[in-house]
Amino acid sequence: MKKLLALVLAAVMMLGIVSVVSAEQKPLKIGVAIYKYDDNFMTLYRTELEKYLTEMGHQVTIVDGKGDQAEQTNQINSFIADKVDVLIVNLVQSTAAATIIDLVKAADIPTVFINREPTAEDMQLWDKIAYVGADARQSGTFQGEIIAETENKGDYNGNGTVDYVMLVGDPENVDAQYRTEFSIKALEDAGLKVNKLFEQRGDWAQEKGQELTANALAQFGKDVDVVFANNDAMALGAVQSIEAAGRVVGKDIYLVGVDALPEAVQLVLEGKMTGTVLNDHIGQSHTAGDVAIKAAAGETLEKNYTVDYVKVTQTNAAEFAAK
Ligand code: GAL
Repeated sequence: MKKLLALVLAAVMMLGIVSVVSAEQKPLKIGVAIYKYDDNFMTLYRTELEKYLTEMGHQVTIVDGKGDQAEQTNQINSFIADKVDVLIVNLVQSTAAATIIDLVKAADIPTVFINREPTAEDMQLWDKIAYVGADARQSGTFQGEIIAETENKGDYNGNGTVDYVMLVGDPENVDAQYRTEFSIKALEDAGLKVNKLFEQRGDWAQEKGQELTANALAQFGKDVDVVFANNDAMALGAVQSIEAAGRVVGKDIYLVGVDALPEAVQLVLEGKMTGTVLNDHIGQSHTAGDVAIKAAAGETLEKNYTVDYVKVTQTNAAEFAAK
């Protein structure tokens, strides 16, 4: 009997060793912290991420930071106390990265940052962290190019300049900074003259996009050639105010966003938006999941994993609508 027990014990121990060796295969406990659930793009992203990881058999817990960094830091502390194998973090504030890295490093829990990029300096703080995202400069450039490639090169009122309104996301976020800067740079690089009429923060939100566009159109009326929205949620709001002001996209005004939300792609197809830029939530969430699994298995990580943006206009929108 004793012999049998010893044998069973030995077998259990061996299995234990085997399961450590094949850590990549074993179901992982994964904590995911999202900056806030009330964000159209991040909702698509987190839904896909959860599906991708749970279909592989991993145990995923996702929490809503509600736009509050203190709350998110508490959530990360709970995940640490819960001994998750790996964390995926969409920071509320990019500037909190160093604090979060200190916490996860002390607990030795590898962490994949997504969507909101920590500084290159912060990324040097530990070798078990990685960033998965897209280069926001590229999305801004694509927005500018979409406008520069229109028939009258973004100049409806024919005064020789592209007179624009800029709906800015959250200015703390590099996505907002780069899209604001590089959309205009692309126009200038195409040899066009630009004139900023209006630029205000809309925090990525549809209601704010609507409100700001209504204000800009009330103030500048027919002077406005183009509305640039740092994301599609704000562009969806802009569509409502453009229509309410009796303006018509493709006839006397242009409107371009980023993300390729299904609603926005539909509006591009209908000609109610000039274009958008695919922010590939499927590519990004799958890469984030894959990197998290590698990190949990102790594999060496790159600092950055980047997924490309894609221009979406009426000529190719059907392809994206089908997806
Ligand atoms: C951007 C996206 C926005 C918003 C933001 C949140 O990449 O375009 O719609 O989701 O991330 O950080």
